[in-house]
Amino acid sequence: MKKNTSTNQLFFQPTFGNKPEQIVGRDGELATFINALKEPIGSRNRCSLILGQRGMGKTALLLEIAERAKKEGFITARVTAHENMPASIIEQIQLNGSALFKEPKTHFSGFNAGALGFSFGLTFSESTMQQFGFRAKLSLLCDKLAEKGKGILILIDEIHTSPAMREVAASYQELVGDQKNIAMVMAGLPQAVSEVLNDKVLTFLNRANKVYLDPISINSITAYYDLAFRSLNIECSEDLISKAALKTLGLPYLMQLIGYYLTLYSQNTSKINENTLKKAATAAINDMEDNVFKPTIAPLSDKDRDFIKAMAKCDEPVTTAKLIEVLGWKKEALQPYRKRLINSGIIESPRRGELIFAIPFLAEYINKQ
Ligand SMILES: Nc1ncnc2c1ncn2[C@@H]1O[C@H](COP(=O)(O)OP(=O)(O)OP(=O)(O)O)[C@@H](O)[C@H]1O
Ligand SMILES: [Mg+2]
Repeated sequence: MKKNTSTNQLFFQPTFGNKPEQIVGRDGELATFINALKEPIGSRNRCSLILGQRGMGKTALLLEIAERAKKEGFITARVTAHENMPASIIEQIQLNGSALFKEPKTHFSGFNAGALGFSFGLTFSESTMQQFGFRAKLSLLCDKLAEKGKGILILIDEIHTSPAMREVAASYQELVGDQKNIAMVMAGLPQAVSEVLNDKVLTFLNRANKVYLDPISINSITAYYDLAFRSLNIECSEDLISKAALKTLGLPYLMQLIGYYLTLYSQNTSKINENTLKKAATAAINDMEDNVFKPTIAPLSDKDRDFIKAMAKCDEPVTTAKLIEVLGWKKEALQPYRKRLINSGIIESPRRGELIFAIPFLAEYINKQ
């Protein structure tokens, strides 16, 4: 379905990885992050971790934090935790901070304007480029930006243990030790974050300010739907707004989808009734299937699929014993699949020996296939 046709876009944008117009129901979390940035240089709260299952709004929150941090005097670098992350961070800081350094036109590349390590603005001299690594470059950028009263905020999405992650985190820790004005916010799936925290080099991140993203409160969603429909002049009873909000289960993506379809299907009449809600909920789940369930399942191996199919047949929470019975596998055979599926955010283990699906409606979808 085409999704860029009307004013409802102001309120509902059901796309992944974007920054929605309005961040709903995360005021408390946002205040925690922004207040942490205001803490004195060196404070351990200036390093934050966002944990949340798929679609819970980690990327959206990172984008919002980046936006607000600019107003707090930070130059931001936003990256996903890939191999080239250190180089990307340096480039982004140079790019985002360059406007602060309007050099007179007479300067030309290669001319040392006086600041150690730079040729002009935030561009490194040739020798700095070649001789120094990530940490030294970041330190030089911190000093140069401090001259303009700015700090550096690094935002890392989809964190996991990797050499690049270790390099960035270790450098961050060292620069904090050197009293540089630097802060960091990271986001990831709970399991990926817990592996990062157990990594020998990264264990200091356990002291970071951790925020677990739960589903958004149904009250916040109700209030948002109410505001959106009023602003769009769409008539919807309190009862139907509450029902629509409940159908989202507090999932940000589902909130966007249901809101989007409700406004789309009421375009002609400017009224939402039971039937509109039913149609909108069905369309939203169809989109979840296409954009969440299918891509989640597509990369899985046959055995992974056998595992989740068996789980979907059982009542949740599914015990290990029950799973062994349904699959007919040995207990040891279960372990690698269990671990892999947890790591990819498909299932989770709320208690020892128990498993549940981490993505709502996924079990229903698997059973339907
Ligand atoms: N607080 C919020 N208010 C309104 N919309 C939100 C909120 N959080 C997320 N969304 C919307 O929900 C969808 C999913 O959010 P997002 O991409 O941030 O999830 P995620 O946790 O990063 O998922 P993944 O683990 O797959 O990367 C997006 O359309 C986003 O705009
Ligand atoms: Mg994301």
